[in-house]
Amino acid sequence: MNKMVVANFKMNLSLEDVELYVQQLKGNISDKVNVVICPSFPFLFMFKSDEYKVGAQNSFYLNEGSFTGEVSTTQLKSLGVSYIIVGHSERRLYSKEDNDLINNKIKNILSNNLKPILCIGETKEERALHKTSIVIKKQIEQCLKDMDKDMLSDLTIAYEPIWAIGSGLTPKIVEIEETVNYIKTICLSKYKADNIKVLYGGSVNRNNIREINNIGGLDGVLVGSASWSARGLIEIVNNIE
Ligand code: PGA
Repeated sequence: MNKMVVANFKMNLSLEDVELYVQQLKGNISDKVNVVICPSFPFLFMFKSDEYKVGAQNSFYLNEGSFTGEVSTTQLKSLGVSYIIVGHSERRLYSKEDNDLINNKIKNILSNNLKPILCIGETKEERALHKTSIVIKKQIEQCLKDMDKDMLSDLTIAYEPIWAIGSGLTPKIVEIEETVNYIKTICLSKYKADNIKVLYGGSVNRNNIREINNIGGLDGVLVGSASWSARGLIEIVNNIE
């Protein structure tokens, strides 16, 4: 199966930047990698190509209604979006999203036949207390509450240690491998789901991508700052085939 590279622009890049990005990407993405580009909402429509898929960074848990400032999964679907990042630690922190809300968002995304990318991971403090596996298990159980194997066939989980995001720090390769396989074991034992893809995210860059790509059981990466230039993303993709 092709490996996956998810590019999370977060709240970065202007209209001009995105125009240039789209041009520079053209013809430079390998068809052996499943690339998902997640720009800010206003620029989603600018990414239309057979070379990659388009993802959103968030969506509301209901399809329509009086929810000022929110964007629904159905609206995103009408724009050609196929993946939606959900439960990113920055949304948990700045928008106070909890596992219950994330659970509702995932159900809404799946009911609209789109693919959620669920982010989970421990804080620096939890890691220091050796609580990584407890935290991850709880996040999976609460975020995937009431779901079964069939519902989860379109789910991707991104293991993103919060302390590694944007910090230049990453866990040791063997630690990533252990956690990735732990996530797969939980999904198998709890939901009988044996086809969930697991990505790693947090300070993935041109220097560590080869080593991270070699991790057994890993299905790809979620990349923030290293994907904010087309050249940066192409470099990651070229190293992951
Ligand atoms: P980073 O961000 O690659 O800039 O650490 C990753 C993420 O937040 O998903």
